[in-house]
Amino acid sequence: MTDKYRPLKNAFGRFATGIAVAACRNGNGALRAITINSFTSVSLDPPLVLWCLENRASTYTSFMEADSYSVNVLRADQRAVSDHYAGYLPDPVSEDGFEKWATGAPVMKDHLAAFDCKVVARHEAGDHVVLVGQVLRFDCAEGEPLIYYASNYFQGTD
Ligand SMILES: Cc1cc2nc3c(=O)[nH]c(=O)nc-3n(C[C@H](O)[C@H](O)[C@H](O)COP(=O)(O)O)c2cc1C
Repeated sequence: MTDKYRPLKNAFGRFATGIAVAACRNGNGALRAITINSFTSVSLDPPLVLWCLENRASTYTSFMEADSYSVNVLRADQRAVSDHYAGYLPDPVSEDGFEKWATGAPVMKDHLAAFDCKVVARHEAGDHVVLVGQVLRFDCAEGEPLIYYASNYFQGTD
């Protein structure tokens, strides 16, 4: 089946990005997470970030109902984690790969950077919703980033 959005996706995809996993807890306390590349820093004071969630994502209701989320930036060697939370592979990160920081959202212990955020705004925008979060705690580590460009991963030495 042809994808009528492929030409637009191809053009959007010429903007190279990192890859992150956004995570929250649903109403039953279950871990919900999704691979994203729409993460952007917004403001330093107050510290704000945003990312965009597709309306049709299986995690949509969980993120719409959660009052906090984490964004976990992946290292080059965490491609399997990206694939898993994009829905492609079995789980390489179990519940004990996450911990609680300031907000109660699940934060990945193993990360290049992590941001624990309180949701401060949700803006509907076409077939996505923009989730704006205030960073209550963050961390960053040394390492190579996992890069996404033109629908492909790049792992530092590529
Ligand atoms: C590299 C990459 C980046 C992605 N970025 C986003 C994103 O920013 N927002 C989003 O809603 N989905 C994004 N997706 C798609 C989701 O990770 C996921 O594949 C999609 O929501 C389908 O999952 P589901 O079957 O659980 O609904 C991205 C996927 C990949 C592989």
